[in-house]
Amino acid sequence: MKMMKTATMAFVTLVAMTATAHVPALESFETKPILADLKDLRALNIPVLAKDERIEVGYAIVTPVMQQRIQERAHQVGKCGGFEDLTLDMHIQGTGFNSILDSLAAIQEKNALYERAPFAALSLEKNGTIEAAMTEVSEDNLRSYVTWLSSFPSRSNRDAEPNRHVVEMKTRLEAMLAEATIPYEISEINHTSTKQRTLKVRLVGSERPNEIVVLGGHLDSINQSWGGGKTAPGADDNASGSANLIEALRIMMTKAQPKRTVEFFWYAGEESGLLGSAEIAKQYKADKKDVVAVLQLDMTLFPGSGELVIGSMTDFTSSWLRDYLKAANETYIHARIVDDKCGYGCSDHASWNRQGYPALMPFEATFSKSNKNIHTTRDVISPESNFKHSAAYTKIALVMGMDLANSTARQPY
Ligand code: BES
Ligand code: ZN
Repeated sequence: MKMMKTATMAFVTLVAMTATAHVPALESFETKPILADLKDLRALNIPVLAKDERIEVGYAIVTPVMQQRIQERAHQVGKCGGFEDLTLDMHIQGTGFNSILDSLAAIQEKNALYERAPFAALSLEKNGTIEAAMTEVSEDNLRSYVTWLSSFPSRSNRDAEPNRHVVEMKTRLEAMLAEATIPYEISEINHTSTKQRTLKVRLVGSERPNEIVVLGGHLDSINQSWGGGKTAPGADDNASGSANLIEALRIMMTKAQPKRTVEFFWYAGEESGLLGSAEIAKQYKADKKDVVAVLQLDMTLFPGSGELVIGSMTDFTSSWLRDYLKAANETYIHARIVDDKCGYGCSDHASWNRQGYPALMPFEATFSKSNKNIHTTRDVISPESNFKHSAAYTKIALVMGMDLANSTARQPY
């Protein structure tokens, strides 16, 4: 059991606008509102306008030079982007940073409540059907899905033809789903912030169809390197998580119909700022949809911290679901779970978390040991790619789709 945690009051603090750092006037062009690691902002003397100490996230308005400094620092400590650009969020949500931090604070408060009184109803009961489903996960299938997806020159939302792979993938999924024994719907979702579309497969729940378990990952890729070839194979980031979801769907579609609805998403435009998921999560919230859990699979192929060592991101996620992952792991998966964090909203789970939904992000390694070849032409299947490792993430999706989606468990607060 957990130790009692001392309650810290006033998690979110608005800092007076009396910025101390010196900002040259010339730098004031193209400023951006961002969320970044509080430690990074402080180390770089960037004025923090608002902050949440508990998750060590700070809000700042930064100039291009500041952005570059944050990125340089992030790269030194093995991070990728280093900050989350809120320009689009604010545009999409029509909100200011106060409401963004308010929603972060509300979620942290739920996590804090949960950690003070962890819910007993978490323990999973070992189930023969789920155990059997685990043995059906095929590393060969995963390899063939990743090979296929990474063979597109690019899956970027900024491509001239941003939906080529989306349309082909839909055709493939439809062919696969022809064998399904449970009711399903497949659709493409249009967005306003990008021309790329999100793919969705819905397995309708038998008893409580309004309760939704979301299993998702981004299907797009990007090449951020200067010069050179411009292909964006995105094998690890994120053909791997996309493949895990296809494999989980293949296995689930011929099993008993889950009591809750299970929705699979292959999101558009994640690499350009969580575009697809931000619109979808916002719409779900507006429609008051009851999403009980959100799984995000983004990068599962490179076992940087060792085979079957899974990084569980603690920022922008739910304490309850992180405990659920640990229970699922003990019962069915038998990997090692290590807590870590991105330090910013690094993937689509942050879009759902921001709307107040419980999210989970099991990741290929700890942040600093993750694949350094992402966002380049080198993100291809290599001798270091490990499909046994990746298979564990399909198993996580299966436990959520077959155990959580058949239970009444939900985040208690
Ligand atoms: N898969 C990455 C996120 C990631 C990278 C997590 C390295 C952990 C380690 C994701 O596709 C991505 O690139 N995200 C962007 C941020 C997003 C808001 C555009 C990033 O990390 O720069
Ligand atoms: Zn990426």
